[in-house]
This record gives sequence, structure tokens and C-alpha cells, in this order.
Amino acid sequence: MERKLMLFFLIQTASAASFDIQFLVSYGIQSLPEYTDVLFVDDIIMFYYDSISEIGEPRQDWVRTIIKEDPQYWEPQMELSKQCHLSMKATAESFKLPANQTKVHVIQQILGCEVDDDTKEITAFNHYAYNGEDFISFDFNTKTWIAHHPRAKTIKEQWDILYESNKERRNFALIIFPLWLQIYLRYGNSTLHRKDLPSVSLLQRTPSSSINCHATGFYPEKAIIFWRKDGEEIHENVEHGEILPNLDGSFQMSIKLNASNIPLKEWGRYDCVFQLSGVQNDLITRLDKDVIRTNWKEGEENLSVTSIAIIATMAVLTVLIIPIIGFFAYKKKKAAEPLNTQ
Ligand SMILES: *[C@@H]1O[C@H](CO)[C@@H](O)[C@H](O)[C@H]1NC(C)=O
Ligand SMILES: *[C@@H]1O[C@H](CO)[C@@H](O)[C@H](O)[C@H]1NC(C)=O
Ligand SMILES: *[C@@H]1O[C@H](CO)[C@@H](O)[C@H](O)[C@H]1NC(C)=O
Ligand SMILES: *[C@@H]1O[C@H](CO)[C@@H](O)[C@H](O)[C@H]1NC(C)=O
Repeated sequence: MERKLMLFFLIQTASAASFDIQFLVSYGIQSLPEYTDVLFVDDIIMFYYDSISEIGEPRQDWVRTIIKEDPQYWEPQMELSKQCHLSMKATAESFKLPANQTKVHVIQQILGCEVDDDTKEITAFNHYAYNGEDFISFDFNTKTWIAHHPRAKTIKEQWDILYESNKERRNFALIIFPLWLQIYLRYGNSTLHRKDLPSVSLLQRTPSSSINCHATGFYPEKAIIFWRKDGEEIHENVEHGEILPNLDGSFQMSIKLNASNIPLKEWGRYDCVFQLSGVQNDLITRLDKDVIRTNWKEGEENLSVTSIAIIATMAVLTVLIIPIIGFFAYKKKKAAEPLNTQ
């Protein structure tokens, strides 16, 4: 948990005034087509491509506009997906374990760059994971590969010899991606630069549960939430939740306070603070019995039909959301640990 939070803060400070473009490739995941890729700009999906349809699906209206107005941009993009699929096949062969060890051959690659809005400095990354583990990545400073796994050492040696192709990869991440990023920022400016404040509520399941300060609907993801006492941030009896994506592209997060030892008359000294990066005014919610929302009714032991429905929905969401969280966590981890600074 702490590590995750730390990563979150790292991203936050590293990218307060920057935009990133990330190309995420998955190969060999059983429940998906053999090959899929997704292009993100600042955590918003631009398009999705897979080896079954072989057609990129734009996921934003302004991406559709780009395709209409600028086909010269779109065709190379689709070509990249096709080439990447072929290259993944070859890569999968070279990563393969001896046949008697494991049958899983899942490769994920994250490729892209971050561009600092002010200095225009570009930080590129190109990282492979094999069967869910860090495997090998490219160091854009030394122009060599780094093996993150003992078995990647021979791959590193082979790939280092192919210096010419490394040069292309370097150009790709350092020239083509920033160019695409510019195009996306131009067309998607109003969406990508927008600041949406969340609605914040205090929720409590039962009178003995912790009080959950829940913010939902904010954008961008660069935000923090904390509890204060007399204006000072507190960490005791506080439990951080994760930032989760909403289906509409906004985000939600929450933080719990165990108030069971806080006398009711002192509640007014506590508040929950939400801060969105780049927005001056914090959203402050005073801890107050009257504003806490709960479905709890005194003496009710039977679960109402509604609460059963909510529990069932939560169970389904958990199944659906956990892979998404895993995916975002992986993506974030890569984003938070850029391999180089150009
Ligand atoms: C896999 O096979 C190789 C040679 O065929 C053998 O040396 C190795 O011990 C085997 N590994 C396992 C985990 O069975
Ligand atoms: C995006 O819009 C902002 C104002 O909302 C403007 O200042 C900025 O120059 C625009 N950027 C681009 C790349 O069009
Ligand atoms: C809150 O804290 C009290 C006292 O430390 C503890 O007994 C209780 O289990 C905690 N409640 C929750 C929901 O964690
Ligand atoms: C639970 O619901 C059943 C059926 O509606 C009812 O007969 C029973 O009295 C309820 N129990 C409590 C504790 O409310």
C-alpha cells in the first residue's frame, strides 16, 4: 500500500506539468485475442487494436476527428500495430522458456514518452514484462538494454548487437511519439486540459464502521485526499483507498477515518480535504454526523432487497475491476519509473 502511494506521489510530482503517451501491447493472454494494443494519452484511451479485428477502434470523438482530417496520421498508426504484432511473435519465440517448464507465454510491452510542458524535455521508455515479471527494458541514455531477469541476459546481448534497430526504437520513442502526442494534444486539448472537481461525500456502512470520505468524478488523476485535525494532516486511524477509474474517464478515490475513539463533540475539529493538481481551492468536508450518508437503519437485521442488490453488484464489479486495477497499476509502475532522462 505504502509503495503504491509513494509511486502515486512520484508520478504526481514528476508530471504536474507534463503529458505522456503510452503504447501498451499484450501478447498471448488467453482470454484476449493473441495480440492487443492500446494507446493512452495521459491515461485516456485513444484507441484499441486487436489481432482479430485488425482495425483500430478510436475511443474518443476527437480521435475520430483526427482520422477524418488527418488520414496520414492514422495509417502509420495502424501500420505500427500490425508491425508490432509480427514483432511480438518473434519476441515470444526468443523469450520462450524450455518446453518442460511453463506453458504461459504472456508478453506485455509499454512504450512511450513523457514530455515536460515547460522545458519540452522528453523522457522515453520501452519496457517488457514476461509472464507478469519485469524482463528487459531499453536505456535511452546508454542505448543498451537492461536485463531485469536472469533469463533476459542472453536476450540483452543479442539485442545490444542489433544497434541499428535500437536506433530506430530510439527515434520512435523520441521523435514519433512526441509528434503524435502533439497531434492528440491539439485535437483533444479541451478534454485533456480540463479540470473536473469531484463530488465528495462521507459514507458509513454501520455505526461502528470507519467513516469513508469518498470523492468521485474528478479529472485528471493527479489528486490527493487526506484527513485533517485542527488543520493538520493526520495519519493515525486513517486508511487510504486506491484511485480507481470510472467508466466515463473520470476517477474516484476515498480515505477512511476510524472515528470510534473520537468523542462526538470533537468531530468538528476534523475534516476531509481533497486537492486536485492545478486547482487552487481545496474541497473541504467537515466531519459531521448530519452529513454522513448511510443505508443503515437501527435494529434492522434483515438485509433489504436493495442491499442484497448492492452487494451482488459490488461482487460483480470486484471481478471486473480487479483486472483493470492490475492493468493500471502495471501501467503506472512503468510510468513512475522512467528508465532514462533525455
Ligand atoms: C527441463 O529439461 C532439461 C533438459 O531437457 C533439464 O535439464 C531440466 O532439468 C528440465 N527442467 C525441469 C524443471 O524439469
Ligand atoms: C489548449 O488550451 C489552452 C486553454 O484552454 C491553451 O492555453 C493552450 O495553448 C492550448 N494548447 C494547445 C496545444 O492547443
Ligand atoms: C477502530 O478503532 C478501534 C479502537 O482502536 C477498534 O477497536 C475498531 O475495531 C476499529 N474499527 C475499524 C472499523 O477498524
Ligand atoms: C426478517 O424478515 C422476515 C420476513 O420479512 C420477518 O418475518 C422477520 O421478523 C425479520 N426479522 C427482523 C429481525 O426484522
